Amino acid sequence: MADISIRNVAKSYGKDSIMQGVNLEIRNREFVVILGPSGCGKSTLLRMIAGLEAITAGEIAIAGQVVNDLEPRQRGCAMVFQNYALYPHMTVAENIGYALKVAGVGRAERRAAVERVAQSVGLNEFLDRRPGQLSGGQRQRVAMARAIIREPRVFLFDEPLSNLDAKLRVQMRHEIRRIHNRIEATSVFVTHDQHEGMTLADRLVVMNKGTIEQVGTPEEIYDHPASVYVGGFIGSPAMNFLPGQVSAARAAVVLGDGQVLDLPRDVATAADGQLVQVGLRPEQLTIVAPGTAELQARVDFVEELGSGRLYHLLVEDLPLTVLSPDKHALRDGDAVGVTVRPDALHLFGAESGRRIDARGARVAAPQVVPA
Ligand SMILES: Nc1ncnc2c1ncn2[C@@H]1O[C@H](COP(=O)(O)OP(=O)(O)OP(=O)(O)O)[C@@H](O)[C@H]1O
Ligand SMILES: [Mg+2]
Repeated sequence: MADISIRNVAKSYGKDSIMQGVNLEIRNREFVVILGPSGCGKSTLLRMIAGLEAITAGEIAIAGQVVNDLEPRQRGCAMVFQNYALYPHMTVAENIGYALKVAGVGRAERRAAVERVAQSVGLNEFLDRRPGQLSGGQRQRVAMARAIIREPRVFLFDEPLSNLDAKLRVQMRHEIRRIHNRIEATSVFVTHDQHEGMTLADRLVVMNKGTIEQVGTPEEIYDHPASVYVGGFIGSPAMNFLPGQVSAARAAVVLGDGQVLDLPRDVATAADGQLVQVGLRPEQLTIVAPGTAELQARVDFVEELGSGRLYHLLVEDLPLTVLSPDKHALRDGDAVGVTVRPDALHLFGAESGRRIDARGARVAAPQVVPA
């Protein structure tokens, strides 16, 4: 078992508090991705789990044991970094087997383990090369192999794919997920790339300025973002936001220019009179003939994507993007209608930025999942 409990963890550097009240339960064998923009504290959180960074307050437990006072090597974690930190003067085999050598494992046993692990990441042909003679992806695999060979209970990845080109990133992403499944480790993976996070994670942790905004499966977070921040961060192209005011009497939200979008009645009732931001995902909107839909807009400009088009529209002066596989013959300035599926409409408090649903202005607190 290697579940990880992070309880009320805070971190300060001197007087600067960079993390507050972080609670997170990571289950045994789960693949958790920590996602957030630069500087939000992802690496710091990972390094605190690894023991490379002391925590200022709170408690971290791995497999039921509080590790606050344990040295990194006593925690059973293996960390893979963005810069692979390989030893340049050693061969691939020596790099992979180094931890075993330090641990006093004999030559023959070490060789067998190195070959087995090299096989699992597709490196057997390269065992006698030095890191300088490898491609970026191959170096990344050496770093993975070096972590795997220690048979860690917990894998910690800090943006390990950011130095790779797009195609290799995808390959290595699949490789990491396969290895995770095979060796039955618990993995915590840090990235600022939402696509990477969505595709890898069993559960996503979205961070914002040293706190956790939301925890959930990629689907839960996409379908029910807890805040404007999460809605805008997850999803590509980014969610549209239009300001408006809820009218329970009309079961609708009235936009600034007087246009009206229907709401489920219970949501409208819960939020009557409230100033809101309406969140609309570009891929859930449909362009129709002008006058035939609830939302009227004008074409600002259109981007060709090959597989479809990204329509940049204006609702009064506010931008609204629509992503569609349909190639409408539209010119800049044309009037269009936009239909909005009721389930595709997200409401957030204008001031709080928090999601509003039928239960009212629910404040989505970071969710703590029992182990
Ligand atoms: N040694 C330090 N002293 C003071 N502040 C620090 C120190 N290390 C990190 N910080 C601050 O802590 C915050 C979180 O840093 P962290 O490296 O965890 O961010 P991150 O989410 O990993 O960002 P990135 O995506 O850029 O790697 C940042 O504001 C950073 O400036
Ligand atoms: Mg970082």
